Order: sequence, then C-alpha cells, then structure tokens
Amino acid sequence: MGKILVTGGTGFIGSHTCVALINAGYQVVIMDNLCNSKVEAIARIEMITGKHVRFYRTDMRDEEDMRQIFEDNKIDAVIHFAGLKAVGESVEKPLEYYENNISGTLSLLRVMREYHCNVIIFSSSATVYGCNNEAPYVEEMPTSATNPYGYTKVMIEQILRDVCTANPEFTAVALRYFNPIGAHISGLLGENPNGIPNNLVPYVAQVALGKLDHVRVFGDDYDTPDGTGVRDYIHVMDLATGHVAAVAYGLEHRGFEPINLGTGHGSSVLDVVHAYEKACGKKIPVEITERRAGDIATSYADPSKAKELLGWEATADLQQMCADSWRFTKQNPNGM
Ligand code: NAD
Ligand code: WQD
Repeated sequence: MGKILVTGGTGFIGSHTCVALINAGYQVVIMDNLCNSKVEAIARIEMITGKHVRFYRTDMRDEEDMRQIFEDNKIDAVIHFAGLKAVGESVEKPLEYYENNISGTLSLLRVMREYHCNVIIFSSSATVYGCNNEAPYVEEMPTSATNPYGYTKVMIEQILRDVCTANPEFTAVALRYFNPIGAHISGLLGENPNGIPNNLVPYVAQVALGKLDHVRVFGDDYDTPDGTGVRDYIHVMDLATGHVAAVAYGLEHRGFEPINLGTGHGSSVLDVVHAYEKACGKKIPVEITERRAGDIATSYADPSKAKELLGWEATADLQQMCADSWRFTKQNPNGM
C-alpha cells in the first residue's frame, strides 16, 4: 500500500476520506491551511482509526512548504481537496477564488513534477455540467460554469487534461461529486460550516437544532415532481470509498479521466426535509420563497462509469444520510 498526500484533509470530504484510506491500509499525510476547518479533525480521524496521522499546517500556494512535505515523505499519489467552495462568495470575490484554487493547484502540480509524483485525484464537481445539459449527466457532456467557483473546477480539469497530454506518465482522475451530505457513523466527523450555512442539509440541521427558525425552500414552481429542486445527494462515506477506489485505479492507469460520484437518484428539497424530520423526530418548518439565482431544476448523475472503471457504487440512502448528519449535529451542536 502507498503513502497518500491529502490536501484539504481536515475539511469535510477530506477528513472522511482519510478515515477510509487508513481503513483500506494506506498511510496518509494531511496538509491544510485550516481556512475552513479545524485541527480537531486530526484528533477525530486518529480516534476513529486508532492510527497516528502526519499533519502539516501549510498553504498549498507556498511551494517551499509543499516541497518540505515531499522531502519528508515519499508520496505515491495526491488527493487534492484543498480549495474554496462557496458559490455565492466566489461571485463576490472572484480574484480570491481564482488565486486560491487555480494558483494553489499549479503550485501543487509543479512540486509534484519536481518529485516525480505522477498521480492526482482531484475534487471536481457536478457544477461543471453547467446549465445547458440535461440530467442524468454523463462524463462526455460539454462542461461549463455559471460562477467563478464553477469556472475554477472547469479550468483545473482542463489543466489536468493538458498535463496528462504533456506527460504520458501522468494520471489525473477528476471526481465529479454531486451533493455530498451525511457524516461518519461515529458522530465524530461531519460538516462544519462557518456562519449561516448556504447548502440545504447543513441549514436543515441548524433548524433541527433550534438555532435557525425555518428552512426557506427556494422555489416550488420547477418542472419537477413536487416543484422543488431535485439533487443527487450522496453520503460522504460513499464518496470516501469512491476516492479509495480512484487511488487504486490511478496507481494502475495513465491519462485524464473524469468520473461522476453520485447515486444516480434525485431527491427534492421537500424529500430532504421530510427525511430529516424522520431522522430527528421533530417538525422542520418551511417557507416557500423565490428561486435562488443560478439554481437549476434537476441534477443527478449517471454513475455507470464509476461502476465500470472503479468497481464503485453508492450504498447509503437519503434516510441514512439524514440520520448520520443528525447524529453529528446533535453530538457537536457548536461544530467540531
Ligand atoms: P471544505 O472547505 O470542508 O474542505 C476544503 C479544505 O481545503 C478546508 O479544510 C480548507 O481549510 C482547505 N484549504 C482551502 N484553501 C487552501 C489552501 N490554499 N491551502 C491549504 N488548504 C486549503 O470543503 P469540502 O466540502 O470538504 O470540499 C472538498 C473539495 O471538494 C473542494 O475542492 C470542493 O470544491 C469540492 N467539492 C465539494 C462539494 C460539496 O458540496 N461539499 C461538492 C463538489 C466538490
Ligand atoms: C440544494 C437544493 C436549492 C438551501 C451546491 C453547489 C455545487 C456543489 C454542491 C460544490 C437546491 C435548495 C438550498 C436552502 C433550499 N458544491 N435549497 N433552501 O446548489 O445543488 O449545489 O453544493 O461543488 O457546486 O452549487 O446545493 O445544498 O445549496 O441546494 O431550498 O436554504 O436545495 O435551491 O434545489 P446545490 P445546495
């Protein structure tokens, strides 16, 4: 088994993936600048796995610091989660988003080249399907974006494609996540957003806790079964095992490969609210409001490529995702 560098490894998806990697027998080295996560995640990963992990508090744009990580450790592959991810904030602060996500990735790739590390698994997003494709999304569809955050994903995929063309020894797997939710079953790791959450499930969780009043449902006049937006929610531990499968694939193959990680099944905003009510045993008040700018009606994956190439399929259903989210929220009412 190899040694994997996980950038953004104290974050939501990164921390869960570290648990899955360690359980699969990999050694992990974590780097993060903690701009959107807490160092406590390291202790939680160690608590769950019973293994020590090496952590570097570093900014990925600092090439000297990044070199030190590769000097200290023989890295076989990188899983690259580090990045800023708030869509609305990216519209307000495009330069910060391009600088952090694009420059950070370029620094990482330069240091990887120096140390002959030729495998990267990148956190892409269903957002690259833009607003001109129709679900179910397949990897061959043209990519586009509607906000700076989305453009950073489209651009980084292109950069990885180009690096693979220039270096036939290089492998880049771009995992296009749909809507990751849920938490580790122990309740020790979960999603820890700063301030008022933008995403649906963290918001619903705060309402269930009593910290927010009610859920605003952004539009009930979409062309969907109940009129509210439909998304492909996927359990973060399913995503985590998807990364373990992608590392194994990446170590054995060459070239650029975009792969969807989704369930292939869509749920509406009201489906999510109802599943959460069942999970927490409380009524979640809702108010129907205007549509949110930039939202689309329906997004879900065709997950068949992941099954074919990685032998991976999502297993958890919406009810389990909400139950695990609620356990983490209840156990960590003020975050991690
Ligand atoms: P997160 O914010 O919890 O994790 C990202 C981590 O990257 C954070 O811990 C942050 O501190 C770190 N980071 C940011 N900039 C950095 C820098 N310059 N140097 C070092 N560390 C830095 O987010 P997440 O939900 O775990 O997402 C992980 C990745 O997956 C991101 O790239 C995100 O864009 C992508 N993604 C997330 C979702 C989602 O809905 N959560 C969906 C699709 C794709
Ligand atoms: C889900 C549904 C909303 C909040 C975003 C990013 C995407 C990806 C995942 C990173 C939609 C509705 C939401 C609320 C609501 N991230 N909603 N009330 O927009 O599908 O995807 O996160 O790559 O790029 O855009 O996720 O959780 O914000 O919304 O009614 O308070 O819930 O309209 O239909 P989204 P979301």
